[in-house]
Amino acid sequence: MEFLEVLSSRRSVPSFDPSVSIDRTVLLEILNTANLAPSSMCLQQWEYIVCDTPEAKARLQAASFNQKKITEASAVVIVLGNLKAAEQHAEIVADANMEAGYFGEDRRERWIASAKKGWPTERVERDEAFRGPSLWAMTFMLAAKEAGWDTAPMGGYEPDKVIAEFGLPETHIPVLLVAIGKANPEITLLPRVKRIPAETLAHFNNW
Ligand SMILES: Cc1cc2nc3c(=O)[nH]c(=O)nc-3n(C[C@H](O)[C@H](O)[C@H](O)COP(=O)(O)O)c2cc1C
Repeated sequence: MEFLEVLSSRRSVPSFDPSVSIDRTVLLEILNTANLAPSSMCLQQWEYIVCDTPEAKARLQAASFNQKKITEASAVVIVLGNLKAAEQHAEIVADANMEAGYFGEDRRERWIASAKKGWPTERVERDEAFRGPSLWAMTFMLAAKEAGWDTAPMGGYEPDKVIAEFGLPETHIPVLLVAIGKANPEITLLPRVKRIPAETLAHFNNW
């Protein structure tokens, strides 16, 4: 598919075909494509819980204002933001930088020390934990569309319930849910809601 076709055919589907399941190999391939998303210092602040059993999806639905598409979808990805990605990923990302030729052994330790210092404030730490995973979620939806799957992003969940139900550690916060599956063939999608034009939204060089 051409990029613009992927972009314009991606829709937040209101309902999924509940008879369709998704193979974990297929899902992992899409998840890996989404990992190409950019992130601050390439620290990849995302992680995800993939709910692909009826039981896990039912638990998630109960924490998400009973949104029916959660149990209809083939799988639902709980996109998590890792508040401590800098500390946890520093070594592995430093090694990947070395492998790609960005720096040598001499800079490795300094790079790791600088990353491990973390962010200057809790606010920046939280912002980063939303920024990277949000870009990841968008990339995931486009990668899914390219692979022939439909998706639906959902912010309608109760964070505290999701945290408790799925046993999230304090370092990881739920950022967004993304359901993946095949659109319910019995439902006709209304046209896409017209976007506010850039001419209205753009502020050139100052507010
Ligand atoms: C951050 C975010 C939260 C959303 N939350 C929900 C949700 O909880 N339930 C839902 O049905 N749709 C949800 N949506 C889908 C939007 O309503 C949808 O993206 C928007 O209407 C545009 O439609 P389109 O994606 O088909 O272009 C959410 C989308 C985003 C990006």
